[in-house]
Amino acid sequence: MKAIRVREFGPPEVMKPEDVPDPAPGPKQVLVKVKAAGINPVDAYVRSGSYARKPALPYTPGSDAAGVVEAVGAGASRVAIGERVYISGTSTGAYAEKALCEENQVHRLPDGVTFAQGAAINIPYATAYRALFQIAKAMPGETVLVHGATGGVGVAAVQLARAAGLIVIGTGGTERGRELVMQQGAHCTLDHGKGGHLEGLDPLTGGRGVDIIVEMLANVNLDTDLKVLATKGRLVVVGSRGRIEIDPRDIMSREAMVSGVLLFKMAEHEEASLRAALSAGLENGTLRPVVGQEIPLTAAAEAHLRIMAGGAFGKIVLVP
Ligand SMILES: NC(=O)c1ccc[n+]([C@@H]2O[C@H](COP(=O)([O-])OP(=O)(O)OC[C@H]3O[C@@H](n4cnc5c(N)ncnc54)[C@H](OP(=O)(O)O)[C@@H]3O)[C@@H](O)[C@H]2O)c1
Repeated sequence: MKAIRVREFGPPEVMKPEDVPDPAPGPKQVLVKVKAAGINPVDAYVRSGSYARKPALPYTPGSDAAGVVEAVGAGASRVAIGERVYISGTSTGAYAEKALCEENQVHRLPDGVTFAQGAAINIPYATAYRALFQIAKAMPGETVLVHGATGGVGVAAVQLARAAGLIVIGTGGTERGRELVMQQGAHCTLDHGKGGHLEGLDPLTGGRGVDIIVEMLANVNLDTDLKVLATKGRLVVVGSRGRIEIDPRDIMSREAMVSGVLLFKMAEHEEASLRAALSAGLENGTLRPVVGQEIPLTAAAEAHLRIMAGGAFGKIVLVP
């Protein structure tokens, strides 16, 4: 099969297509024929060599994909050959024509959800769900600021929050992106590229601030975020690419909570409940992954350039 291989950490060009042997499923494993693979920022951090977790070289990047079950190993009974699935991790890498998964990394893809959309589910929707409901304990009627709403996690957070009855304010850096955020269910949008954009929250919340912030770029926004949280507000750091100085008094004076999310820290029972919630949303149509760009598998390097370039518009997926 064709797979993208990384033989040294470095710029996007270190990702090259190669012919590699087809993996074979062992006990309790499933082999998935990949129809689309999701690009996540973490794939680019890992490839660059700057991320805390480094895979052994050479490796095939990617954790998210959707496709069809091609083979199952002994004792694997959750899915059958020919079933449409999305995956939440793989031992052989998602940027490939086939991916070898543990049985519990394979989930049914509801009818009506395309393979490209399926590749956009795992990290974005799981992260957004965990941030909103497992960490921030969002309740219907509360107000949430999705700070960075145009990309993978942001779009998922907007759809999830809206479906749960929250008032949703989303930010984007482009006009086109902000239009997308409105179409996904936000009540209004702000431009995070404009200085002082959070002042726009005052008229929207009657000056009381927002109950929840889901933050995609904490190293830029954390200090100002803390000043627009309501009393008892909760802020969840999803993304951060550096350091920032804050005033702890802003947390104290609001009895606010600042937390982080990291998918790998999820307990088994939390994942089971999260998967059930995502399945329900995908089946009833409240969750509709947005795929802005489909790129051939062999052009993975270009996909990494684009995900780090800004101007997000939903997800970028690779198509073998
Ligand atoms: N902790 C975890 O477990 C976890 C899981 C998933 C993702 N993440 C991290 O979360 C971040 C978002 O992930 P993603 O998959 O949604 O990435 P993405 O699809 O590339 O989207 C990036 C988002 O950040 C926005 N952004 C850019 N400048 C911003 C600013 N000044 N203020 C607020 N937002 C800004 C972008 O908006 P425009 O392009 O419109 O400017 C876009 O909405 C990444 O840093 C990723 O590594 C962490």
